[in-house]
Amino acid sequence: MIALFDRLAAPLLRALDPERAHALALGALRLAPLPRAAPDDERLGVAAFGLAFPNPVGLAAGFDKNAQAVDALLRLGFGFVEAGGVTPEPQPGNPRPRLFRLDADQAVINRLGLNSAGVEAVAARLAARTGAGIVGVNIGANKDTADRAADYVTCIEALAAHAGFLTVNVSSPNTPGLRDLQQAAALDDLLARVIDARERKAEGGVRRPLLLKIAPDLTLAALDDVVGIARRHGIDGMIVGNTTVSRPKLRETAKGTEQGGLSGRPLFALSTRVLAETYVRAEGAFPLIGTGGIDSGAAAFAKIKAGASLIQLYSGLIFRGVGLIGAIKQDLLDFLRIGRLNALADAVGRDAAAVTAEPWPA
Ligand SMILES: Cc1cc2nc3c(=O)[nH]c(=O)nc-3n(C[C@H](O)[C@H](O)[C@H](O)COP(=O)(O)O)c2cc1C
Repeated sequence: MIALFDRLAAPLLRALDPERAHALALGALRLAPLPRAAPDDERLGVAAFGLAFPNPVGLAAGFDKNAQAVDALLRLGFGFVEAGGVTPEPQPGNPRPRLFRLDADQAVINRLGLNSAGVEAVAARLAARTGAGIVGVNIGANKDTADRAADYVTCIEALAAHAGFLTVNVSSPNTPGLRDLQQAAALDDLLARVIDARERKAEGGVRRPLLLKIAPDLTLAALDDVVGIARRHGIDGMIVGNTTVSRPKLRETAKGTEQGGLSGRPLFALSTRVLAETYVRAEGAFPLIGTGGIDSGAAAFAKIKAGASLIQLYSGLIFRGVGLIGAIKQDLLDFLRIGRLNALADAVGRDAAAVTAEPWPA
């Protein structure tokens, strides 16, 4: 079924304008009579943030911004899905075109600008879910809000009862000023307020894990601050990371000049380096999710060895299709067998120190 979907849909989707292709893929997923994915091999299971993930392969934020197809996406075999980014109030995002596919680079540039149906719509969809499976939500601030931290608090209040975890996204490059929340004083204030909101909403003992998602463009000095502040506030985990505003060497030089965040294969080296740098600074205080340029089992395993307990992908799906999910899981089992490891946890961070000793990726 999944192979069929890829064979029929992929060429059609690639021929379309990227944003229309995305809407079509999401619509098709919602309607497709997808059977439940086969149960995962228990060696793929991961315990993190107090949650039990059946496998470590997650869908990154931005694909299902309004939580329209989360259960269908879980049926494709993902171990978890991150919906969003959502903002408190609905907002249209930036003018089109705002999504660019760089086929020769297997990369994407987007400047969507957190287009969102608003947190109430997303909360209502999640509240109506009947399926099991871990669905987190990525939260952000409205473009023209006066108090950005208050927007995150609003989202936590609306979503705490319905989301498996919440990701504080301070790293989208397309909302002016949002990434400034990664600066020490602003982050300290933001994390105090979001943790407080989470504690207030911890009804019946359900304290939702709060994750912090950072940009791969932070300097190491800034990363020192960010990890230190995250540890001090008892954040449950970090996602490393979002798209980059940098431009590693690209083949598609014309499209490469489009403004926005770059994702996909050219992001892999930078995001893996920053992941390893985060891992050595976190010193096991919390688990990490590795995101950026994963398009194979080998890339997924490299993220795990650089420090990721879980991984997420988005752009790889566009170029490899949904068969990528099962291929990664199969490859991870092979890597465990070859390395004589009992569980993925035994590989987490094994190469982190070595990765941080390499020259900085070009
Ligand atoms: C079209 C698009 C929209 C995205 N929207 C969001 C978002 O709303 N919030 C967020 O934190 N990350 C967002 N991302 C970033 C992804 O979640 C992910 O961190 C990034 O694309 C790197 O992973 P990849 O190389 O596998 O795509 C978006 C990415 C793309 C391509």
